Amino acid sequence: MKNILVLHGPNLNLLGTREPEVYGSTTLDEINAQLEAVAAAQGVTLRIVQSNHEGVLMDAIHEAKDWADGILINPGALTHYSYALRDALAGVHLPAVEVHLSNIHARESFRRTSVIAEVCAGQICGFGPRSYLLGLEALLALGGRSGNRPGARQDTD
Ligand code: DQA
Repeated sequence: MKNILVLHGPNLNLLGTREPEVYGSTTLDEINAQLEAVAAAQGVTLRIVQSNHEGVLMDAIHEAKDWADGILINPGALTHYSYALRDALAGVHLPAVEVHLSNIHARESFRRTSVIAEVCAGQICGFGPRSYLLGLEALLALGGRSGNRPGARQDTD
């Protein structure tokens, strides 16, 4: 896996000052720099996109079909309800890993549902900025470009 799309969803541009008791004080630029350092050490190229607009994230996913080998995504609140984002990920057949800074399963009940998880190889949450690094490691461990997403459901309900 040589080329990875990193997607940050809504409000993640505010990291550093946004609810620091939940998300910590690390900024998005600092997280991106950590990811870039790990990627560079492994000869991997990242393209990083943050957007507060669902359609921009979907466009980035669609475009990734032509150049990326995998997707690392923190969909923010879209995690919990965006079937459009889910379908975009399902539609491009790229291996994806979902990450969250906070443990979404230990917070409000609406956060315990991820409509994204079932089209991802796996989900990492609760480790702050390290969730991203663990997610990148997991994505790289999946290996080459593949239409088969390990762990993804194949049924159509
Ligand atoms: C988040 C968790 C989401 O529930 C929330 O809406 C976010 C951030 C996280 O990284 O912990 O925006 O994705």
